[in-house]
Amino acid sequence: MASSSSCFSLSFSTFTMKVLIFILVFVPYCALAFDVKTVIDSPMLAQKVGTNRTIKVDINGNGDFTSVQAAIDSIPKGNSNWVIVHIRKGVHEEKVHIPKNKRYTFMRGNGRGKTAIVWSESSSNNIASATFKVEALDFIAFGISFKNDAPTGIAYTSQNQYVAAEKAAFYHCAFYSSHNTLFDYKGRHYYESCCYIQGSIDFIFGRGRTIFQNCEIFVVDDKRILIRGSITAANRENESEMSGFIFVKGKVYGIGGVYLGRAKGPYSRVIFAKTYLFKTVVPERMDQLEHLYHAEYKCHGPGATTQGRASWSRQLSDEEAAPFISIDYIDGKNWLPAWI
Ligand SMILES: *[C@@H]1O[C@H](CO)[C@@H](O)[C@H](O)[C@H]1NC(C)=O
Ligand SMILES: *[C@@H]1O[C@H](CO)[C@@H](O)[C@H](O)[C@H]1NC(C)=O
Repeated sequence: MASSSSCFSLSFSTFTMKVLIFILVFVPYCALAFDVKTVIDSPMLAQKVGTNRTIKVDINGNGDFTSVQAAIDSIPKGNSNWVIVHIRKGVHEEKVHIPKNKRYTFMRGNGRGKTAIVWSESSSNNIASATFKVEALDFIAFGISFKNDAPTGIAYTSQNQYVAAEKAAFYHCAFYSSHNTLFDYKGRHYYESCCYIQGSIDFIFGRGRTIFQNCEIFVVDDKRILIRGSITAANRENESEMSGFIFVKGKVYGIGGVYLGRAKGPYSRVIFAKTYLFKTVVPERMDQLEHLYHAEYKCHGPGATTQGRASWSRQLSDEEAAPFISIDYIDGKNWLPAWI
């Protein structure tokens, strides 16, 4: 510890110098200084969206609304300027839906351990039972836990959050459920900074074109089934579809065994890059389809062994990985307020 901290302080001064030089030289000319590696926090996001228009939600009645949905409903249809819906700490027991005509919503919580939106519903319809649904273009969430509390072990049901919006970004959020946790249906999406996603079977699914940056995937064992579940079930019907789930850095861990991916659609695309894979990731996988693109790039950890992986899964070269692990994969520089 001692040696590493002194090492840190030595390099720190050089680093500080570089940062100072950077600030002095570049910042006055470059408003977009946020692509420097840094922690993305909510003041930074508020500054990036450039608004002070805030609607406060407080379950104890000290805000503008006690319900999140009531706050969303108060946003005018056809909204064209960013509006912050600040959700104060507490467990908000309700379903929340952001319809197509409520664009530019920035839902800001007090942190994923403090602000939670929780509902409990099972259905064979993945969309009907979702605790949280976003269908509007241009959406940001920060520091919120989304949870479907419905008990498992009764039937194979879907319990999830549904993201069908184009240009949706989640920072420091968490998603809890068991089966089908995150329905990343379609559009360009970004999940960043320890977005925590928990589930058992096929728990990240859909046809989104999505980067999961520094996310934690936690696998819970589902004792009802003999076959193991899969983390992802990515859908892609043909070569021209841009969809695919890209996991960059972050980690996969948990209880029991799980496959990295199950194919849904013949061209299903999933890449785990530079990700820590705990031994909960089991090598053999079930599906075998001709055009499947399930790949890994420089992963590490006990689950990252390539021995026994299905013959069609692949390890990417630097050149092959580059177009996917860059923010350009989702065209992020043109719409994300911030990224790392
Ligand atoms: C937000 O409010 C602060 C303090 O009142 C002000 O300095 C800033 O200019 C405002 N920003 C916008 C985008 O209105
Ligand atoms: C590819 O699949 C998508 C989604 O199913 C569909 O909308 C599109 O028309 C298909 N394109 C071709 C070339 O088949």
